[in-house]
Amino acid sequence: MSILANRQPELLKVSNLTGGYGKIPILFGIDLSVGENEFVGILGHNGMGKTTLLRTMMGHLRATGGAVAYQGQDITGWKPERCARAGIGYVPQGRQIFPALSVLENLQIAAVNNAEEGLIDRLLEDFPRLKPLLDRRGGVLSGGEQQLLALARCLAASPKLILLDEPTEGIQPSIIEVIQERLTHFKTAYGISFVLVEQNLEFIRGLSDRVMVMQKGQIAQELSPEAIAEPNLIEEFAGL
Ligand SMILES: Nc1ncnc2c1ncn2[C@@H]1O[C@H](COP(=O)(O)OP(=O)(O)O)[C@@H](O)[C@H]1O
Ligand SMILES: [Mg+2]
Repeated sequence: MSILANRQPELLKVSNLTGGYGKIPILFGIDLSVGENEFVGILGHNGMGKTTLLRTMMGHLRATGGAVAYQGQDITGWKPERCARAGIGYVPQGRQIFPALSVLENLQIAAVNNAEEGLIDRLLEDFPRLKPLLDRRGGVLSGGEQQLLALARCLAASPKLILLDEPTEGIQPSIIEVIQERLTHFKTAYGISFVLVEQNLEFIRGLSDRVMVMQKGQIAQELSPEAIAEPNLIEEFAGL
């Protein structure tokens, strides 16, 4: 069978996307595609435009050129809420849960637009570590627990595609393992696609079907996950 026949249909297609802050250009013509049930990693040092890319795709920042298509529909310029309703989840860098609200209240707010019966129970089944923390305020959780809460909040909307911005940043290794296992589960059990922005090589390699390297607002190259084990790349990203 040909390679083309094996390719998954496209879920997200970003074409020649440009954007930035006010008059400062940051993204210089990004092309990116994500298939159904595909996990795409984006690797890049600090300041390369990874967060700007996710925020522009999600409608938090205005694109100055190019297009974002989702399920074959042009969603360029859509507001974040509309992207979310269409099935795109976004877990921002730094997690941004509600620190003053309890874990349960954080989940209830995320679930407010979803009439699914037993939704909170379903979320807690997917995130059993949150069960004993329900009455804790979000702000007193560890970084890893906050990341699990942020993921659970995102899952409340039953997304088809999730954009993840550095989920391992500042998180202890034991919970990084839990997050990796959960993301793998969501991909295989729910068929969710992912765009994962990371600087953690081992994490991105363990999850991604394909990896893009981002440099100065552009996709510089595409790597297979195996290539991420190359010693020179490991050296380049060491100590980040
Ligand atoms: N709110 C902002 N206003 C102006 N420039 C910004 C803003 N946020 C980020 N930048 C700049 O945009 C560039 C890319 O940042 P960012 O997308 O956060 O990179 P990354 O996520 O890869 O670390 C950096 O030079 C950064 O200083
Ligand atoms: Mg960033």
